[in-house]
Amino acid sequence: MKKIVIGCDHGGLELKLEIIAHLNKRGIETEDVGTYSTSSCNYPDYARALCKKIQSGEFQRGILVCGTGIGMSMAANKHKGIRAACCSDTFSARMTRMHNDANVLCLGGRVVGAGLACDMVDLFVDTEFEGGRHSQRVAMIADIESDN
Ligand code: RB5
Repeated sequence: MKKIVIGCDHGGLELKLEIIAHLNKRGIETEDVGTYSTSSCNYPDYARALCKKIQSGEFQRGILVCGTGIGMSMAANKHKGIRAACCSDTFSARMTRMHNDANVLCLGGRVVGAGLACDMVDLFVDTEFEGGRHSQRVAMIADIESDN
């Protein structure tokens, strides 16, 4: 994983900056789709901007940070082909890569500290999808998208 797209709202700005520094220190390039200040803004705008970059194939994976991670994950999961997981523990961050092939990790800047968040980011970046029986289940998620 060489590059990651990342975005946030005002509730996630501080944590997003910590994550960018962490990823860059690991040699992973980041593209930041905003927001860039603590002025109040609307998280769906940033979820949309980030998801479009994954849908276009420019990026394979992204990270979204808001106050709870929940609004970002709800907005991101409305995009075709996006499998966003809101996590606040390392087990879930690892499993959502192994079993769900998550391509977006959503974190809560008001929920988790930078240390735990960066551990989750590392697992999200480094863990491979297991495939096998999980491929069929992920394909079933795509079928639901097609039905709607
Ligand atoms: C903003 O106050 C807050 O609602 C937002 O960051 C997020 O937590 C929404 O899910």
